[in-house]
Amino acid sequence: MKRAYFAILCLFMLSVSSSAEVKDSRNINERVKALLSKMTLEEKVGQMTQLTIQTVQHSKGPDAGMIDMKKLDKAILEYHVGSLLNVSDSALSIRSWNGLITTIENVAMKSRLKIPVIYGIDAIHGATYTKGATLFPQPLNMSATFDTTLLKKEGAITALEVRASGIPWIFYPLMGLGRQPLWSRIYETFGEDPYLASRMGVSYIEGAQGKDIGAPDKVATCLKHYVGYGFPLTGKDRTEALIPWRMMEQYYLPPFKAGVDAGAPTIMVNSAEVNGIPGHANYRLLTEVLRKRWHFKGFVVSDWGDIKNLYSKYHIVSSPEEAVRVAVMAGVDMSMVPTDYSFYNYLIRLVKAGKVPMWRINQAVSRILKVKFELGLFKNPFPDKRLAAKFASPSSDSTNLEAAEESITLVKNQGHFLPLSKNIKVLVAGPNAAELATMNGGWTITWQGNAENLYPKNKPNPLQAIEAKIGKGNVTYVQGCTYDSLTDADSAVAAAKNADAVILFLGEHTYAETAGNINSLALPWAQIKLARMLIATGKPVVLVMLEGRPRVINPIVGGSKAILAAFLPGMDGGEALANILFGDANPSGRLPITYPRFVDALYHYDHGRASVMGGNVYDPQWNFGYGLSYTTFKYSDLRLSKEKIDERENEIVTVKVTNTGNMAGKDAVLLYLGENYRQVSHPVKQLEGFGKIYLEPGQSKEVTFTISPKQLSFIGISDKRIIQPGTFKVSVGDLSGQFEVVGPRVRFFPGFSR
Ligand code: BGC
Repeated sequence: MKRAYFAILCLFMLSVSSSAEVKDSRNINERVKALLSKMTLEEKVGQMTQLTIQTVQHSKGPDAGMIDMKKLDKAILEYHVGSLLNVSDSALSIRSWNGLITTIENVAMKSRLKIPVIYGIDAIHGATYTKGATLFPQPLNMSATFDTTLLKKEGAITALEVRASGIPWIFYPLMGLGRQPLWSRIYETFGEDPYLASRMGVSYIEGAQGKDIGAPDKVATCLKHYVGYGFPLTGKDRTEALIPWRMMEQYYLPPFKAGVDAGAPTIMVNSAEVNGIPGHANYRLLTEVLRKRWHFKGFVVSDWGDIKNLYSKYHIVSSPEEAVRVAVMAGVDMSMVPTDYSFYNYLIRLVKAGKVPMWRINQAVSRILKVKFELGLFKNPFPDKRLAAKFASPSSDSTNLEAAEESITLVKNQGHFLPLSKNIKVLVAGPNAAELATMNGGWTITWQGNAENLYPKNKPNPLQAIEAKIGKGNVTYVQGCTYDSLTDADSAVAAAKNADAVILFLGEHTYAETAGNINSLALPWAQIKLARMLIATGKPVVLVMLEGRPRVINPIVGGSKAILAAFLPGMDGGEALANILFGDANPSGRLPITYPRFVDALYHYDHGRASVMGGNVYDPQWNFGYGLSYTTFKYSDLRLSKEKIDERENEIVTVKVTNTGNMAGKDAVLLYLGENYRQVSHPVKQLEGFGKIYLEPGQSKEVTFTISPKQLSFIGISDKRIIQPGTFKVSVGDLSGQFEVVGPRVRFFPGFSR
């Protein structure tokens, strides 16, 4: 009786809240309509214009970098600019941010219709441009945690810290897949797999947006970069990709669809071209898929200067004005111009000449205004000063440390060499041992992340963290080489002779975007040489790779006793590494990307069957999903709910996991799925489920996975999502089972969401 009463109450509450939501969105739509009806063409086009903050700052003299009120008035009052972005490449204190946003919104409140400005900022691994912010492991690392709870927490912490500065909009998460390991933005992605990227991205959005982006500590997210950016043929940033439509549907679109379904209200366009069509001119993707199929209701923002690029870089139009017409008609709602009024002037001219219809302007502006209303900016566009008290709290910091520890992947541990005893003498060497920057990568305090002098003084770099762990007297540090030349390598060798073990920090320095282009995935020779010299001393070498992408280290893998693929573990990376090296934390990361063995043999884990037939071998250095622990986990009792299902049913898979070692630890349990026959060539297995559990020694837990009909489906010959009845194989660790999907024929799915 009590239960029935409770159920009725819940139903009642649900219907009250959903009808309140409907009313709220109806309210917003009405307010948007009412406001739009009062706006002039100029005011509307201004809303579609986004400028970088430098445009309204003094460029020279004693006030360089400060707001130039004349320029700001011109932007907001004369050109009706609706959005600003970015910083002059260094982080500001919360106070400075508050002052800056207040100044901007004060001017907006002087405008005829008092439309607030929406400020947008990059927040790739935390509030990049806010001094003292919690800077998490980079996204590739976060993905290696396979821990969606951590992503959700990261989203919530970042949202609070960005909102504390008065900014309501972040350019993140990056839902594009990283399927080209040479690409300089791999570390900004969630890795190579669409299922993993979808779940990670969605968890982040849930944390950052909550149920209401208008809440004081939530932000609007921006999915980027739509779509296909992460598979450039040349490996160079912003260069062409070739992605057949079937593969676009199978791999690249689903994470964006998941982000749209999770409620992300904005999307940024791919700066590059796919199949010869620049992202900003792609009507099929921006309008047919995004709007007509997915019913995306938010707005689309261009990437940096990319409307102009249709003319100046891609040469697909004969004038900059035509570039504006093509982009707007393809579906771009806001232009990140970012430093002048050309977009504004051209678009007004185009509308007056009848080349861009008024309905399209109204549509774009309505979408932008709607997000501003949803963010609560019309109610209060000013910073909420109360949030500063919660900024960079100790609990955020401990979440960050936990994330850093979980994001580091142990890929080799010969004879259980790690963890190290704390009673030893070590030599620390390599170019990445003594900086915070090399653990953080780009988008840290500055765009390129390389201004070590601006990094917090209270965070230890790896060397300092090791010294703190085992005592300064037990640690010798000799760098040995820079990234690409040997320096004091002989001294390193001499020092190794007096040490019990060598901890060698190799990898890359920081970079963002095109500045990170490389011509070879091989780790530069000097680093390999230093490692070989140290290995030749006979002292055990523990290799720690700090890098934004998987540089090939095959020549030194065999000689190293243990290897940590640490990628970019963030501001708490030093402490996390020391904890793992000396056994105060048990590593649980799993690779979210295939780690190549050879520079010319680049695979994905979900490769075609021919890659392993007729003498071909699939032999990366380490496979996607690979990662070791200091304890051992045993999988048993794999059970399937049914031997046969029809194509509308879920299949439930359960497996028991036991910690059979003697250290507590976390385990990422991954479920792969494959089908015996499909009408198109298909990988043997694809990730379709994962969970992360914590187990004390001897403890067991059951993990349950639900495989939905959508997960049984794939993109068929006709580029449509279908289910083909057949035998499916499920594998979890070394266990496997199979079930039949029975049905008369291939069934089409409406749309193609995962
Ligand atoms: C990048 C985007 C970023 C934007 C604003 C562009 O160069 O591609 O990812 O959001 O700059 O900083």
